[in-house]
Amino acid sequence: MPSDRHPCAGAGTPEFHRRNGELWCEDVPLTALVARLGTPLYVYSRAAITARLATVRAAFGPDATICYAVKANGALAVLRTVHAGGAGFDVVSGGELRRVQAAGLPTDRVVFAGVAKERWEVEAAAAAGILAFHVESPHELQQLASVGSQLGRRLRVMLRVNPDVDAGTHAYISTGKKENKFGVSLGVAGEAVTTIVASPWLQLVGYHVHLGSQLRSVEPYAQALAKVEAFVDADPIRARGVTHYDLGGGFGISYGAGEPFDLAAVAAALLPRLQARGWRPIVEPGRYVVGDAGVLLTRVLGEKPQGGTTFLLVDAAMNDLLRPALYSAEHPIVAVAPRAGPPRTVDVVGPVCETGDFLGKRRDLLPTQPGDLLAVLAAGAYGASMALNYNTRRRPAEALVDGGTARLVRRRETFDQLLQNEVPDAEPFVP
Ligand SMILES: Cc1ncc(COP(=O)(O)O)c(C=O)c1O
Repeated sequence: MPSDRHPCAGAGTPEFHRRNGELWCEDVPLTALVARLGTPLYVYSRAAITARLATVRAAFGPDATICYAVKANGALAVLRTVHAGGAGFDVVSGGELRRVQAAGLPTDRVVFAGVAKERWEVEAAAAAGILAFHVESPHELQQLASVGSQLGRRLRVMLRVNPDVDAGTHAYISTGKKENKFGVSLGVAGEAVTTIVASPWLQLVGYHVHLGSQLRSVEPYAQALAKVEAFVDADPIRARGVTHYDLGGGFGISYGAGEPFDLAAVAAALLPRLQARGWRPIVEPGRYVVGDAGVLLTRVLGEKPQGGTTFLLVDAAMNDLLRPALYSAEHPIVAVAPRAGPPRTVDVVGPVCETGDFLGKRRDLLPTQPGDLLAVLAAGAYGASMALNYNTRRRPAEALVDGGTARLVRRRETFDQLLQNEVPDAEPFVP
């Protein structure tokens, strides 16, 4: 880091750093960016996204297919950045596929997971020539075969196995335990393979697992592969034609606490085993690529001591960043231009009419005045992509920084847009 730059505590990437005490993204001062674009504002660093993709590539090697999980952040400009960094995409809906297409990007390295796919989604993905469908429920096979026969060609499928492995993550983002709705349990996976192999319209190209998000250790990945290997070894038909193993995403980030996830350790544990079988890896990182690469900027509206708590009232809320309310997620929060003075403990809360509307609880923050800017760090993943209109709030603007320049890549929503589908004077009809 050049000598005029200083690390920002809690930022998982050097692209967000301090110069003369103030927070910058790459070569852009965030105070100046907000003067142009207002708040709440998501800001992403192109260099940080590119660097993370390079880390994934370095860990898993040239043979790996990186399918970035669009759900983490589907902004078209982010998708283009990710594509430029060498990745394909993991989509979980026809809408996410539309995003990839709207960004003008190729769809031949798209994998399509999703626990319940509609026919139009399967048709659109088949027409787009995606890399593989991740089958999560046995009933999907009939639909996939029917679309294949309609098109007169075989569709590539990977079976998403539910290995019943505890990923040690928040219950809402655990996806690989037997009680979760995702994937096909090993008990019925054999039958699913038989159906796929027997169909003239389906081609089994691999197995997929995704254990959950924000994983912090190698063990679950190794356990899941061991279970898939044992499953495959139980019947030779299960290995026939298999070329890929998709180990999912889920690589955790530190959110200001602890070390970054050791991707190289996952690769070291899994790659030799995959190579021994001639299986090529697919990885689906979302959070790891964009989480630390984004912040949410918000302005202080006021302060209110009440019932023993000091509430710091800001203009961003749970509708802009749902993770704290939904998962009790803890994002570091810092002042963009810190003032001198002793820190005090505050709850950073938004204007939404829910007690669950908070961005951070019991945070030690330096003194602030109304109008000051705060940055909610590590907000690039599952931030803007989960934003809502609750309380008739407009979803925030998003900007992408590249070196010394920034671009507004999504405008703040307008009230006209919020109301455009409402037809209070619609003609009644008899259904
Ligand atoms: C199938 C699938 N792949 C990949 C991901 C990405 O997870 P993460 O952002 O934790 O890497 C998800 C997230 O839920 C997912 O459902």
